[in-house]
Amino acid sequence: MAQYSCVSGSVGLITLKNPPVNALSAAVRHGIVDTVKRALSEPKVKSVVICGQNGIFCGGADIREFASDMSGPPLVPMIHAIEAANKPVVAAIEGSALGGGLELALGCHYRIAHSKAKLGLPEVTLGLLPAAGGTQRLPRLIGVPAALNLITTGRHVTAAEALQLGVVDQVTDQNTVDAAVKFALSVAGQSLDARRISTYPCPRPSDLDALFDGVMQKVRQSARGAIAPVACVQAVRAAATLPYTQGMEREKELMATLFTSGQARALQYCFFAQRAVGRWSMPSGARWDTSKPRPVHKAAVIGLGTMGRGIAVALAQTGLSVVAVETQEKQLMEAKQAVSGMLERGAKRRGVAPALDGISYSGNIQAVADADLVIEAVFEDMTLKEKIFQQLSAVCKPGTFLCTNTSALDVDHLASQTRNPELVVGMHFFAPAHVMKLLEVVYGTRSSPQAVATAMQLGKKMGKVSVAVGNCRGFVGNRMLKPYLEQAFFLLEEGATPELVDRALEEFGFAMGVFRVSDLSGLDVGWKVRKGDGLAEPEMATGQSARIRQGRRYSPLGDLLCEQGRYGQKTGQGWYQYDKPGGRVARSDPWLHSFLEEYRARHGLVARRIDQQEVLERCLYVLINEGFHILEDGIAAGPEDIDVIYVFGYGWPRHRGGPMFYASMVGLAKVLERLEHYHQAHPDVPYMQPCNLLRRLVASGSPPIQRWREVIKKLHSQL
Ligand code: NAI
Repeated sequence: MAQYSCVSGSVGLITLKNPPVNALSAAVRHGIVDTVKRALSEPKVKSVVICGQNGIFCGGADIREFASDMSGPPLVPMIHAIEAANKPVVAAIEGSALGGGLELALGCHYRIAHSKAKLGLPEVTLGLLPAAGGTQRLPRLIGVPAALNLITTGRHVTAAEALQLGVVDQVTDQNTVDAAVKFALSVAGQSLDARRISTYPCPRPSDLDALFDGVMQKVRQSARGAIAPVACVQAVRAAATLPYTQGMEREKELMATLFTSGQARALQYCFFAQRAVGRWSMPSGARWDTSKPRPVHKAAVIGLGTMGRGIAVALAQTGLSVVAVETQEKQLMEAKQAVSGMLERGAKRRGVAPALDGISYSGNIQAVADADLVIEAVFEDMTLKEKIFQQLSAVCKPGTFLCTNTSALDVDHLASQTRNPELVVGMHFFAPAHVMKLLEVVYGTRSSPQAVATAMQLGKKMGKVSVAVGNCRGFVGNRMLKPYLEQAFFLLEEGATPELVDRALEEFGFAMGVFRVSDLSGLDVGWKVRKGDGLAEPEMATGQSARIRQGRRYSPLGDLLCEQGRYGQKTGQGWYQYDKPGGRVARSDPWLHSFLEEYRARHGLVARRIDQQEVLERCLYVLINEGFHILEDGIAAGPEDIDVIYVFGYGWPRHRGGPMFYASMVGLAKVLERLEHYHQAHPDVPYMQPCNLLRRLVASGSPPIQRWREVIKKLHSQL
């Protein structure tokens, strides 16, 4: 796991070997300890180079080991032994030096990186901190502000930035190991006194307290309840204020708290879940590893509104040739400008040329005839979409995949409008489509595995986290959102305010509460859907049926606001008020509070005190319950799919792992008990009735989330 050889007569070359990223498993750590000892004891060896095989230095700790009892040599003394060596040790960094890999390199006396290498301490993203001296050595090497930035964000830096910051000593375009060996020869025999980072004094900015207070405030705000970024700041503060050995003690203490926290488990679960969703499967048995995608060279987008523009940008940025079709001339002109602007800004950020020539525009659907794949993003109107799919089926060359960006409509029905329903899938992007990472790939009953594989691969190319899901109203994300939103309305009827509900959800970790999101995306969106469903009839708002519609409890509050023209930010008023239409800063609105009071009085409702716990339980548990229904129905293959959708598409706090993981942490028995309680209290809300799958899981002893699939399989086999 670490190979030793002597090269150029006097350089001990240690090569880490643990594909794919040379992670620091117990065997690799053993290998390093043994080979370093050997290099230091061989008289002919005057200096040492550490590198990794296959062009990757080291991707860091082996995360899989976290779940088991850690065995093998610990990292801290191993890195100390390297730093204390009396022969120069040079790290030859190719590919990546991340986490423990960078900490290992910081223990070396010199660091040489290839120009394409990436370096970073991403532990914070897994709910941890760099606990092999990273929080103590990095600030000593590059100063407190730069170290804080790297450690609290976990961001990766390029070799050029690493050189500028002083993380590495040299960057090369040549063979890094050769350059490092040459360098090692040149420094053999030189004093190492000035090369041991742990002996450096930590540079202390004069306004140390103000600096840390400012950073802590910023970090707490953006962490939204995540504890690791806060612990990272505390550890770096220890580096700046304590001697090295005491700083290391503090690093260890802080790490011990993080390591056993639920948040670290949640974040590590997310890490694996994100990878698991790539291994998709369909109820037919079709799978990611047996379904071959077809290459897509030319793609088309129909409808250049909010979504179509973002989708066109995302496609063009992958280097595809894109045809964009929009029938309204004015809209087409505006879209051209907007798309070019987005491409230019994106290219500037990434330091590349904008792909402006990659997109051609047309007002005629005939222009998509030779596209390999078309994404429809016209208004959410089934009759219009039916027509588009009929046209596409007639216009496109044989074999063109036809995709819809619909938020909720029936993919099977759209497929039935075409000659080749097997070529039809949903590609459900999230706004803004060129920014948001999530893509739901919706397979219908007749979608071919190749169509799904192609959409999944295209999503990946666009840098999306793509999740394959089945076809039902709202698919996974929006289907679960519906009961969540309804509960928020009900809470207002019963005595809560938008401020109270939003505060509870924001303190839970959502970037924005449900009402602030509703104001941002526009209240009219949901209103239109409810009208389409025959729910939002104005005349019902006062009569007997105002709060019971289609046989169940209904809240017309959102509809009533829309009838007053309060659509949210765009009109300057919604659940909150804004200083002008388009304003972004939400302020409490006394009008809304009196409106709620009048509404309650009109309907004979007596406001009661609602606490944050009730808000969370009612909003989140109904969403989770719908998640269980989705698993039971086979719409999502496993809980990871749901969790990834919520973390990447709906602002669910990552450090809480996603709704299904959160349910497993709360305890399934508790979720079941609370749902039963609320269902008894609100028998006219059918979706509060606990899902059968949840009952089954509780009855089988609430197995860990990794074993839910077995229970689901059993349930399906009995149906
Ligand atoms: P939008 O109203 O901003 O844009 C729709 C565009 O389609 C308009 O520019 C319209 O002129 C154009 N259009 C209408 N008929 C056309 C035709 N026959 N040929 C070509 N273009 C035509 O709508 P938005 O928000 O972009 O939504 C589009 C689709 O994406 C809808 O199905 C919606 O449900 C879905 N969606 C919307 C999200 C959002 O946040 N806005 C998120 C995810 C999906």
